[in-house]
Amino acid sequence: MSIAPGTAVEALDTPVLLVDGDALARNIARIKDLARHAGIAYRPHAKTHKSPLIAAMQIDAGAVGICCAKLAEAEVMAAAGIDDILITTEVVGAAKIARLMAACRLARIRVVVDDEKNISELAEAARAAGIRLDVLVDVDVGMARTGVATAADAARLANIIARAQSLRFNGLQGYHGGLQMMAAVDERADQVGLAMDRLEAAAELVRSERLEIETLTGGGTGTSVVDLAAGRLNELQPGSYVFMDASYSAIEWRDGAPPPFENALTLMATVVSRPAPEIATVDIGYKAASMDSGPIRPIDLPGAAFTFMGDEHGRLTFENRLCPLAVGDKVHFIPSHCDTTINLYDRYVVTSAGTVTAIWDIAARGMVQ
Ligand SMILES: Cc1ncc(COP(=O)(O)O)c(C=O)c1O
Repeated sequence: MSIAPGTAVEALDTPVLLVDGDALARNIARIKDLARHAGIAYRPHAKTHKSPLIAAMQIDAGAVGICCAKLAEAEVMAAAGIDDILITTEVVGAAKIARLMAACRLARIRVVVDDEKNISELAEAARAAGIRLDVLVDVDVGMARTGVATAADAARLANIIARAQSLRFNGLQGYHGGLQMMAAVDERADQVGLAMDRLEAAAELVRSERLEIETLTGGGTGTSVVDLAAGRLNELQPGSYVFMDASYSAIEWRDGAPPPFENALTLMATVVSRPAPEIATVDIGYKAASMDSGPIRPIDLPGAAFTFMGDEHGRLTFENRLCPLAVGDKVHFIPSHCDTTINLYDRYVVTSAGTVTAIWDIAARGMVQ
């Protein structure tokens, strides 16, 4: 169904994924100001929004490029004209490396590595394709997800990359996802300090072997305030800041301040049933909102709690009061996790002051390979 700009939000059919275009623009401007003030480059993670259009807005605002989590996301971004992309997950295996070489014809794409065999396969493919591929060594700074475990391994791989004529050693990545949602900001800052100690130890050893580190990249939305203040990375990779979500809104920020970024992403649902006086059933279930970070958060409904009730249904329970909603009423929610919720939708309905202004494709939605 096509939606005409100018349509009132409350007239939209549901479930629908809404973006407040004004809040989005403010978030995009805010990270630019924060990063400029700190003198640190930023490369937003497009795995959050999966939209070349939003990626272009971020780059126009001052981002040095974007990150993608998967090659398939990068292919979509490159085909849409985004020309500076870091793939933050290792690109492994002949099939993917062949696709990577093709994508490198469209955009400057950098990759991360943590394995010697992978490096030689990348080098051979780049040589055959006649390109020079930028490569960063991925350093495990405490998460034990990807990355080399020691500074010595980082230096060893950096040397292998530097010696390969079809590769260019670009620097190090050190990302710790486990710290992003750490609720207490002081504890988060302490843990970021330890993670950055590990990255810096690797960087020092690499530099001592006369290899230049152009890029030291990492960090996310949750650690952004800490990373920017510490100045130990020279490139930040925040993703969720662009929309925020209920999880990120719930953590502590500096000095009791509110989050530096606004909730720009909401879900609208319709009440489809009133099975009991204190309960309303809405048309959002597992297939319309992700639940990996818990329940979605109702907006402007004091005392209401949401529970998933299956694939297509959710329950609003009102504590100590009767449910004020009627069948057919529209209800708004903040997703608990923006990335995984966005991946359930084909498009954003962009709004301003309660009216639809645009429809944007979520072009890289489902691109997990
Ligand atoms: C490597 C990497 N960098 C940056 C991010 C951005 O995280 P966030 O959305 O928390 O800002 C992620 C998220 O998982 C990531 O995996």
